[in-house]
Amino acid sequence: MWAETVAVTGAGSGIGRAVLLAAAARGARVAALDVDGAAASSVVAAALSAGAAGAVAVECDVSSESSVAAAFSVVADAVGDPGAVFANAGIETNAPLHSFDASSWERVVAVNLVGVFLTCREALRRLVEAGRGGSVVCTSSPAAFVGHSGGGNSAYAASKGGVSAFVRSAALDYAPHGIRVNAVVPGATDTAMLTTGGADLDRIRAAAATQVPLGRLGRPDEVAAAVLWLLSGESSYVTGSHLVCDGGLMAKSANDF
Ligand code: NAI
Repeated sequence: MWAETVAVTGAGSGIGRAVLLAAAARGARVAALDVDGAAASSVVAAALSAGAAGAVAVECDVSSESSVAAAFSVVADAVGDPGAVFANAGIETNAPLHSFDASSWERVVAVNLVGVFLTCREALRRLVEAGRGGSVVCTSSPAAFVGHSGGGNSAYAASKGGVSAFVRSAALDYAPHGIRVNAVVPGATDTAMLTTGGADLDRIRAAAATQVPLGRLGRPDEVAAAVLWLLSGESSYVTGSHLVCDGGLMAKSANDF
C-alpha cells in the first residue's frame, strides 16, 4: 500500500496515464490533472478499478497560474495534499527555426516549462508547509541533451533543456526540506505524442527497431516503473538526478565506424 496522494499532470494519456494507474495499483490516492477533462475522468475511473484508495479528476491547463492553483485546491479537498507529484504534461510542435511562428514556440515553452514551474511551485508550497518531505518528478527528454536528427525541434528542446536545469536547481533549494526533485528522461515511447503532426507510427516503429539499442519503442508502463521508483521512498537518497529510460538510445554514438 502507498500512503501518499500522488498527483500527475498530463494524466489523461500516455506516460502520465500509466503512472497514475501504477500508483493506483499500489493503493495510492491519486489525482489526475489534464487539460482534457474527459481524459482525466476516464483515467480516474480506471484508477479506481485498479485499486486506488481515492481518486479525483481535475481539468487543468498547466500553463495557467490560476488553473494550477485551483486544481491543487480541488485535489487537497478531495484526496488530500499530494506527497508525490509528477509534473509531466507536455506538447511537441516542430518546425524549421527560421519559419517557426512565435506564438507556437511560446505555447510549447508555456506548457512544457512554465507548466512545470507552476505545478512544482504549487506542490512545493504545500509540501514545505506540511513539513514531511516529499518527492517531485518532472518529465524531461533526450532533446534536453542531444539534437534531434529529424530537425525542427528547437522549441521542444529548449523547453526540456529548461526542465532539466530547473530540476537540478530546485533539488538543491528543497533538499533542506527533505523534498527530492528528479527528472525522468523517456526515450521514444509509444504514446499519442509520437504521431503528433501526422507522423507515421509504422515508420517510427521500424526506425526504432534498427536505431534503438533495445530494438523497439518504449512502453508507457516501462517509463511509469521508473517514475514510481523516483516518486517512492525507495529512491530516498536520490535528488537532482535524471533517470534515463530510453532503451539505450542516448548511450549510442551516431558514428558506426
Ligand atoms: P501524450 O500526448 O500521450 O500525453 C500528454 C498529456 O498531456 C495529454 O493527456 C494532454 O491532454 C496533456 N496536456 C497537454 N497540454 C496540457 C496542458 N496545457 N495542461 C495539462 N495537460 C496537458 O504524450 P506523452 O508521450 O505521454 O507525454 C508525456 C510527457 O513525456 C511530455 O512531457 C512529453 O514531452 C514527454 N516525453 C515523451 C516522449 C515520447 O516519446 N512519448 C519522449 C520524451 C519525453
